[in-house]
Amino acid sequence: MSLQEEIARRRTFAIISHPDAGKTTLTEKLLLFGGAIHVAGAVKSNKIKKTATSDWMEIEKQRGISVATSVMGFNYGDYKINILDTPGHQDFAEDTYRTLTAVDSVIIVVDVAKGVEQQTRKLMEVCRMRNTPVIIFVNKLDREGRDPFDILDELENELKISVRPLSWPINIGAKFKGVYNIYEHGLDLFQPDKQKVTERVEIDDVNDPAIDEAVGASDAAKLREDLELIEGVYPEFDSEAYLRGQVAPVFFGSALNTFGVKELLDCFVKIAPSPRPTNAVERVIEPQEEAFSGFVFKIHANMDPNHRSCIAFVKICSGKFERNANYKHIRTGKMMRFAAPTAFMAQKKSVVDEAYPGDIVGIPDTGNFKIGDTLTSGENLHFKGLPSFSPEMFKYIENTDPMKSKQLEKGIQQLMDEGVAQLFVNQFNGRKIIGTVGQLQFEVIQYRLLHEYGAQCRWEPISLYKACWVESDDKAALDAFKKRKHQFMALDRDGRDVFMADSNYVLQMAQADFPAIRFHFSSEF
Ligand code: G4P
Repeated sequence: MSLQEEIARRRTFAIISHPDAGKTTLTEKLLLFGGAIHVAGAVKSNKIKKTATSDWMEIEKQRGISVATSVMGFNYGDYKINILDTPGHQDFAEDTYRTLTAVDSVIIVVDVAKGVEQQTRKLMEVCRMRNTPVIIFVNKLDREGRDPFDILDELENELKISVRPLSWPINIGAKFKGVYNIYEHGLDLFQPDKQKVTERVEIDDVNDPAIDEAVGASDAAKLREDLELIEGVYPEFDSEAYLRGQVAPVFFGSALNTFGVKELLDCFVKIAPSPRPTNAVERVIEPQEEAFSGFVFKIHANMDPNHRSCIAFVKICSGKFERNANYKHIRTGKMMRFAAPTAFMAQKKSVVDEAYPGDIVGIPDTGNFKIGDTLTSGENLHFKGLPSFSPEMFKYIENTDPMKSKQLEKGIQQLMDEGVAQLFVNQFNGRKIIGTVGQLQFEVIQYRLLHEYGAQCRWEPISLYKACWVESDDKAALDAFKKRKHQFMALDRDGRDVFMADSNYVLQMAQADFPAIRFHFSSEF
């Protein structure tokens, strides 16, 4: 197969949702269709249950599971599908944001009873920043839920994207009878059965009397009424607008019952994009370029504390990746060869000889890689778009074992390279501040510093509201700002100026008092 054909058949995406909406269940059902697994229940949820925040075994288990399920590749018909897993726990949201930089599209799962939840809203913001094409799957139709038209309105308002239903439910909850497939004009009858695939009634169009026979005259009439309303309210589905991230097709179903999943998958492979061009600082990289390029979007530490080796996950952006070829690690300028790159097919990790744009390869690493690093056949390229967001929680990190300060330094640095949290060094007192998106990360850092680096630390409270990156075209204004706020100025790990605002009020005042300064809430600007 030519490089062009390999690229055209690839679909690399992530499934995202608020915890409990059904992401794990949907992922598993997609793997079932792809023949990657054979029984339901084979995919472990990689979420840490809320009750287990301090249960270290759980965290270790989670880390193990998430290596295994980080990327799930399988073939479906002529297509090669790569699902990138995202952590279920919101304390690891930063990890999810970075994973979204490595996908070409996204499926969002929404619970029909709960509608759009907080985490979904945040993740959608990240998709919007990158114009990532989005398909929405409204799940749990077998349970009592909200009116589908209300759900559509909420999706549009809360996620700030136009929607277009491509399937439509006939009742929900106890009376749920099935889904009309608007995209392909078919009727799928619901059979509550966890292992069985949907039964389809062949029909010509929505006026086919077979619908009345299948669901009864009154539900058939209601369906026709609903569909008429849909056609009146929503413009025709425009796949180009979907690819631009302007309209999200919506499907309804029940992942647990494997209902509506195949319809979703069949439509997904047809409309979802194959690997798209990637923006580098220097230029735009087209996937079909001969020369190889890729970037590290995730680093996963080994669970075995005796071998501090990691796996760096590299998304291939262009060209063919080959085992044992010489590639340039741009940040260090070193040439590197990889003897044992792994691919993730059907939930198994195995050594691969070659991989193509859209694929993810895992490279065993002993501390050479940082998140965002670029590998190429030789050209100096730097990929953009691995943003850090202002953390939500901050603590001072203090050394409690003076004999191990080197280990602590190294541990902190490597964990930050891995993207576990963000480090800021206060320029006034020189103290190190760790910023996270959740309490759990502090516990993970302390635990890992001790078990992997033999270093001990303690946390000290600091009351901060937000970290914002500051810049200005006016050097004098920036200097004046830094002078006035010198107690609250820090540097991030790339040496950039960060203002650590201790309250929303202080931040607003600073913005009003210093109009020449730009305040950024993500590191990408
Ligand atoms: P997540 O990864 O998004 O967090 O969600 P997950 O798939 O783990 O699903 C959350 C819960 O919702 C699970 O129940 C799952 O069985 C259930 N679920 C998923 N899809 C459907 C659906 O279509 N209909 C119904 N009724 N339930 C669904 P749980 O009790 O938390 O876990 P489990 O013990 O069943 O695994």
